[in-house]
Amino acid sequence: MKSLLLILTGLLVGALCALAAAKAVATRHAHERATMVVLAHHMDALRRIGDEAACAGEPVLERLQQIGFAAQELTFAFPDLDTPGSEFARRRHDLQQAADSAAADGIGSCQDLAQATGTLARVCQECHRRYQ
Ligand code: HEC
Repeated sequence: MKSLLLILTGLLVGALCALAAAKAVATRHAHERATMVVLAHHMDALRRIGDEAACAGEPVLERLQQIGFAAQELTFAFPDLDTPGSEFARRRHDLQQAADSAAADGIGSCQDLAQATGTLARVCQECHRRYQ
C-alpha cells in the first residue's frame, strides 16, 4: 500500500513537472513572437489588397502606421538585441523608417503599394537573415 502511494505521488509530481516544462516552452519568446506575428498580419493584409480604390484608401495608411508602431515595439520586445549601435537596432530603425515614410508620402496606387510592401519585406528579410 505504502509503495503504491509512493508510485502515485511520483507519477503526479512527474506530470506536474512535465506540464510546467510544456508551459515554459510554449510561452518562451512570447512577446518577441507576438510582435512579429502582428507585423506579419499587417503585411499580409497589405499584400491582399487588390483594386486601385482600396490601394489608395485610408486602411492602407493605418496598416503602415501599425507596422511603424510594431517596429517601435521591437525595442521593448528585444532589449538584449536592440542595443545602441547594434545591427539589430539599425534594422529595426530601417523598418520604422520605411513604414513611416511610406505612410507620410501617401499611397496613391497599387503600384505605390507594391513598392512600399516590397521595401518593407526586404527590411524584414535583412534582419531575419542575421537574427531569426
Ligand atoms: C530588427 C530585426 C527584425 C525585423 C526588422 C523583423 N524581424 Fe521578424 N523576427 C526577428 C527575430 C529575431 C525573430 C525570432 C523571434 C523569436 O523566436 O524569438 C523573428 C521572427 C519572425 C517571425 C516568426 C514568429 C514566430 O511565430 O516564431 C515572423 C512571422 C516574422 N519575424 C515576421 C516579420 C515581418 C513580417 C517583418 C517585417 C514587416 C519582420 N519580421 C521584421 C527579427 C526581425
